[in-house]
Amino acid sequence: MSKSDPVSDIGGAEELGGRPSIVSARMPWIHDGRPWEDIRADLIALKSEDYDWRGGRIPIYVYYDDDELLSVSREAYNLYFSENALGRNAFPSLVRMEEDLVKWSLALFNAPAGADGSFTSGGTESIFLALKTARTQFRATVSKSIRPAVVLPRTAHPAFDKAAYCLEIDVVRVDVGTDLRVDVDRLEAAIDDRTLMVVGSAPCYPYGVYDSISTLGKIARARGVWFHVDACLGGFLAPFARDEGFSVPEFDFSIPGVTSLSADLHKHGFCARGSSVVLYRSASIKVHQAFRFDDWPRGTYSTETFLGSRPGGSVASAWAVSQYLGRAGYRRLARKTMEAKLRLVRGVESITGLQVLYPSDLSIVLYRSVDSCVDINAVGDCLTEQGWFVGRSREPMALHFAVNAVHAPVVERYLSDLERSVKQVRASGKTGRRNDLTY
Ligand SMILES: Cc1ncc(COP(=O)(O)O)c(C=O)c1O
Repeated sequence: MSKSDPVSDIGGAEELGGRPSIVSARMPWIHDGRPWEDIRADLIALKSEDYDWRGGRIPIYVYYDDDELLSVSREAYNLYFSENALGRNAFPSLVRMEEDLVKWSLALFNAPAGADGSFTSGGTESIFLALKTARTQFRATVSKSIRPAVVLPRTAHPAFDKAAYCLEIDVVRVDVGTDLRVDVDRLEAAIDDRTLMVVGSAPCYPYGVYDSISTLGKIARARGVWFHVDACLGGFLAPFARDEGFSVPEFDFSIPGVTSLSADLHKHGFCARGSSVVLYRSASIKVHQAFRFDDWPRGTYSTETFLGSRPGGSVASAWAVSQYLGRAGYRRLARKTMEAKLRLVRGVESITGLQVLYPSDLSIVLYRSVDSCVDINAVGDCLTEQGWFVGRSREPMALHFAVNAVHAPVVERYLSDLERSVKQVRASGKTGRRNDLTY
């Protein structure tokens, strides 16, 4: 596999003077401590085991455009490296930055006056909080004794199941139709007295497809149930892609039935990891999000989000990056991403034996083999041998690519490696390994 450029990731390559690093002391029981220079060398050596994200070799996990943007994010993070966002009274500057980010996000997603939200550590926490808030409201307004249920498309993110498990909420998953969007009739039929929330993805991760958010909004309104839109993946790409003339389905608070929405700044917002927002149509709903505990010698403990101590750095990074980019910067990144995606789609389609799955509403490309002599997992294995980290899908058996700006310079290289891989597999008749564990 091709190694990343670990030295430039950390910086200060010249100081190493080409000295080979020996990863020798990862033992937590080490007694006397070690010099930073040695530890740093080990970190650099450790990094070399990883895939090359900077070279666009990973189709998920890392969002990167260039070093200028990265250094804004890093410097802002480092300026607030030690500050703890739990301390709202000690660090009012962090509270201000969080408020700014929430206000900006509410405006971006067309929330009405009186809406509110929170800055969180990521999509999973945003989703957890939306469910927690809905459950607390359900207990306050519907029933304390009924075990509630959330109705989800089969394609919705497992973060909902994780949260539901912790919150003792049942999960009802509903199949998608031939258009890969949730079957709205089946979803409506699954709603009953226990339903505390219905969910739509904008878009879902497995297929990159938007559920029919406006239809789901109508159903939710008519049935009087909470409707959460999971825009974690596409939230900070879609509005700017639309500005640039790409057609993107409607998904936000401009649809009347939408109660809450999650969107991740640490994905297409290009902010440091640990940044997302959860937003509510009305501040009167958000009150159910807070946790307050009084029976403690130290006095009242009260937090709005799930975490206790929180890194000030991720708040500062998000605040700085969103201002540094501005609408113009996000539009430029959206164009770069969407054009790279189109080049990837056209390239895959031009390779005999491969087929792109449609619809592909935003930045995810899923493709499979339509040639019985080409096993798509074997193609994935060939790509791995050429240094690509491969995203695999099980239903259908396919390869998965979530495009962002980091991939723009390497699309053609990927396509030529892909074409070679398809030819090799066809010639050898090899079969490959299935995707049984995605993460
Ligand atoms: C649609 C969707 N929702 C939620 C999440 C969870 O986000 P996180 O990994 O930041 O917790 C993801 C992550 O990829 C996602 O794609």
